[in-house]
Amino acid sequence: MIKEIIASIDELNSVVNYLNETTPKDAIIFLVGNLASGKTTLTAHIAKAKGIEAEVISPTFSLQHCYGDGFYHYDLYRIEHSEFMELGLFEEFDKSGWHMIEWGGEVLKAFLLGAGYDVFTVTITPCNDKRQYQIERN
Ligand SMILES: Nc1ncnc2c1ncn2[C@@H]1O[C@H](COP(=O)(O)OP(=O)(O)OP(=O)(O)O)[C@@H](O)[C@H]1O
Ligand SMILES: [Mg+2]
Repeated sequence: MIKEIIASIDELNSVVNYLNETTPKDAIIFLVGNLASGKTTLTAHIAKAKGIEAEVISPTFSLQHCYGDGFYHYDLYRIEHSEFMELGLFEEFDKSGWHMIEWGGEVLKAFLLGAGYDVFTVTITPCNDKRQYQIERN
């Protein structure tokens, strides 16, 4: 089943609430969408709802940001899948909590599903001046 929600930035709580209601405590969430579609913005709103005070920015230059209390944010735009695996970064996914991934590829997703992780995909598409969020469990 794919859930579809259309939301402006001010309406993002509808997406955050849906995720909080349907996503287990430990999950890997792929954020799929073009440049500037709103992946980091959604991550920031989820963090805020979790009571995380730190500013959420794109972790492009560090691959991963850990916001404590089981909330992780990755930007894999600049790294090849093979490099990610060689660095052993996939071991991070064993940590309890939500792992938000920007620019994660299908190869990584297939690997994680094969390894038994609970994987979700949020596909973000521009829709007039809002965004459409398609949320599915893989
Ligand atoms: N639901 C929304 N409705 C309208 N505008 C939005 C929405 N979500 C995000 N935006 C706007 O889209 C722009 C890009 O957002 P953001 O940086 O989150 O994108 P991104 O997908 O993380 O980009 P990148 O691929 O470069 O990391 C920002 O100006 C933000 O305000
Ligand atoms: Mg981003």
